[in-house]
Amino acid sequence: MSIPREKWGTKLGFILAASGSAVGIGNIWKYPHMAGQNGGAAFTLIYLICIFVVGLSIVIGEFALGRKTQLSPVGAYLTIAPKSLWKWVGFLGVASAYVILSFYGVVGGWIMNYAFLSMKGDFELLSGNPEASSQLFNAFITSTWSPLFWQLLFMFICIYVIVNGVKGGIEKWSKIMMPTIIIILIVLAVRGLSLPNGLSALTFLFKPKFADLSASAIVLALGHSFFTLSLGMGTMITYGSYLKKNENLLSSALWVIGLDTLIALIAGVAIFSTVFALGADPAEGAGLIFVVLPSVFPEIPGGQIWGTLFFLILFMAALTSAISILEVVTAYFIDQKGWSRSRATIVFGGTITIVGVFCSLSLGDNLNITWFLGMSFFDFMDYLSSKYMLPIGGMLMAIFILKTWSVEEFLREVYVGMDSKKISSQLVTILLSIGALVIAFIILNEIVEKLFGSPIIG
Ligand code: PHE
Repeated sequence: MSIPREKWGTKLGFILAASGSAVGIGNIWKYPHMAGQNGGAAFTLIYLICIFVVGLSIVIGEFALGRKTQLSPVGAYLTIAPKSLWKWVGFLGVASAYVILSFYGVVGGWIMNYAFLSMKGDFELLSGNPEASSQLFNAFITSTWSPLFWQLLFMFICIYVIVNGVKGGIEKWSKIMMPTIIIILIVLAVRGLSLPNGLSALTFLFKPKFADLSASAIVLALGHSFFTLSLGMGTMITYGSYLKKNENLLSSALWVIGLDTLIALIAGVAIFSTVFALGADPAEGAGLIFVVLPSVFPEIPGGQIWGTLFFLILFMAALTSAISILEVVTAYFIDQKGWSRSRATIVFGGTITIVGVFCSLSLGDNLNITWFLGMSFFDFMDYLSSKYMLPIGGMLMAIFILKTWSVEEFLREVYVGMDSKKISSQLVTILLSIGALVIAFIILNEIVEKLFGSPIIG
């Protein structure tokens, strides 16, 4: 006798869990620094187009595949196309989860440490001094034990939430953390805008200067739209598999995409208003969060509290995403191998943590394999997943709907729970085809750059 599948308690719970997966380090860390380095508003505009044109149909595709089959990726592909090679796309998703979570857990640990440092008032020493801040950050991430301690703690919390199940763990915590993130982020943005010169952040983020629009920014925005919506590895298939038949997939997808975009933009406002008010460099890049912000927070009144709140919500955002990544692996072992939830989560959460230990160590002198990979193991895992695994997974899923499942069958599933049944199958075919082609081009562009030293565009 099989155990009935776990289900989300409410539609709101599902939307908050799925947007919790989407909203993560990608929104609060990657988007602002990418926009900062690529012309601000021009990048934002392209990013928005990519999210709605390429992202929307693939989010709905993943939800529909999960809900139709009530299974996580491998089982989902196997149900619709038994005895075919499609199940390997599911396996690719499980492998991507391993790769992403190994470095994501390390960054999650850094964030927890920074929340703690801010709370203790340690940013005081960095006030107005980005060099000191940069030294502190580098000394921390290249050291051996401290980042490992924080990574282990982060992964432990992640495992704890998942062991408690879909409704009692993932949904329960997303319902607490997502509203907290939104409220605190709005407060931080208003606080930032009220600082002298804070309003220039709005011009920077929202007034496009088309001269700034470079080809490389377009490629970057496309790639990032995948990462930020958690697409291409079956996270949304897995979350969709816990849905009841009466939910409206189109409106759910619009909610998830809307919240993800809104939160990235508010985070951009909160960060750039503070950066502009204190005359720091918006194009600092990856160090914007860990280097620039700790040196500017102590300069604003109540900076200790603002800094702590900022890293606290960043931690929550990272956690709700990490949970969704581990859930893909856990669900595979529950669905296909009949393991219990706690056994699957502990065993695989544990092994992913061990791979993460190597990611962390690769940033210091302990495990230097840069000579072999051309980059640190940490950067390699990030590169492999965001440049290849997720886009390939997303492209293959779009092709799967177009060629194997069929747009008609896909729409039949989408219509369940919807009042209007008037989505044009031509439009869906066009959107999925554009999605697949665009992704194929990005991957090709990347490969050409690797092989020949310069990309086709960018
Ligand atoms: N969407 C998450 C972020 O923006 C990252 C993520 C990627 C989560 C893939 C799940 C799957 O940080």
